[in-house]
Amino acid sequence: MSAMSLESVRYGRGSLRVLNQLLLPQRSEYEPVTAVQEGARAIRDMKVRGAPAIAIVGCLSLAVELANNPPCETPALMTFVRESLDLLIGARPTAVNMKKAADELNTFLAREAEKPGCTVQELTESIIKWAEALREKDIDDNRKIGEFGAQRILENAGSTEAVCVLTHCNTGSLATAGYGTALGVVRSLHTLGRLSHVFCTETRPYNQGSRLTAYELVYEKIPATLITDSMAAVTMRERRVSAVVVGADRVVANGDTANKVGTYQLAILAKHHGIPFYVAAPSTSCDFSLPTGASIVIEERPSNELTDINGTRVAAPGIGVWNPAFDVTPHELITGIITEQGVFKPDELKDGLTRF
Ligand code: MRU
Repeated sequence: MSAMSLESVRYGRGSLRVLNQLLLPQRSEYEPVTAVQEGARAIRDMKVRGAPAIAIVGCLSLAVELANNPPCETPALMTFVRESLDLLIGARPTAVNMKKAADELNTFLAREAEKPGCTVQELTESIIKWAEALREKDIDDNRKIGEFGAQRILENAGSTEAVCVLTHCNTGSLATAGYGTALGVVRSLHTLGRLSHVFCTETRPYNQGSRLTAYELVYEKIPATLITDSMAAVTMRERRVSAVVVGADRVVANGDTANKVGTYQLAILAKHHGIPFYVAAPSTSCDFSLPTGASIVIEERPSNELTDINGTRVAAPGIGVWNPAFDVTPHELITGIITEQGVFKPDELKDGLTRF
């Protein structure tokens, strides 16, 4: 990434600042997060969002609180970490990344604590380093996802021409530690000189597409056009879309995938138009403890996120509202799942991932 790349978080030992995505694209402001409570609030309020970024901000908020207020004794440290992780997991339920990070950190910590003579200071330091490594790994994973995804889409398109893709929600630098997942694939195609165009959906009701993805695409000077979600069918029919590529909040054992609401209808449309439909997701978004998508808990957001725009009510007063933030795309509609370890058919993912 260049020094000028967009960053969802700015981190240095003992200091974390989060780009407040509620203010984009009008204002670009970083806000300090000094404690786990603040990290959880930033996630719940969607100042930071996107499955990988949620886990990274959660874990780094723990790291900065520990760096600035280290517990003096191991039992106090263990209790603090356990309670903090529980709070962070509860902030948003659908994306699995924070839960997986918490499970891994707990396992790591239990192992470290058993080492003979391990001091509370050493344990604290190891947690901070663990959180810092999570961020580094995410950027690495995204670059690999970008390369694998671009290669697969080009192979599938089967020509030497540039390809046109359609994407949904925001899966870019703002949703991750950097580079992005589905938007990382778009970025890679562009870097290779093989992207003719990208269509990004507005992504109602929260407009992650028009506010955030459009912002990233303009920032990176990638040839792009914004459409409303309801224009996806006509875009696929009339604009020679070669592939749809989206992100994921949770991919379960049979390949069913939860992602931003509206993903499911895009997969149905892609099937109808004979367009390959790809999910780009790091293994940190995979949850093989759930057999099918039916078991995924779908977060429901407050009704005003649908009825109001920028604080102004646009929906008729008195109307009932259902606002699920995500939907589940059945595996049979997914052509391939692009991970940092390669591209898998949905039903081959569980056995295909070597490190998980
Ligand atoms: O509600 P959001 O904005 O957190 O939803 C984000 C998405 O659905 C993304 O597609 C997903 O988290 C992957 S981000 C790399």
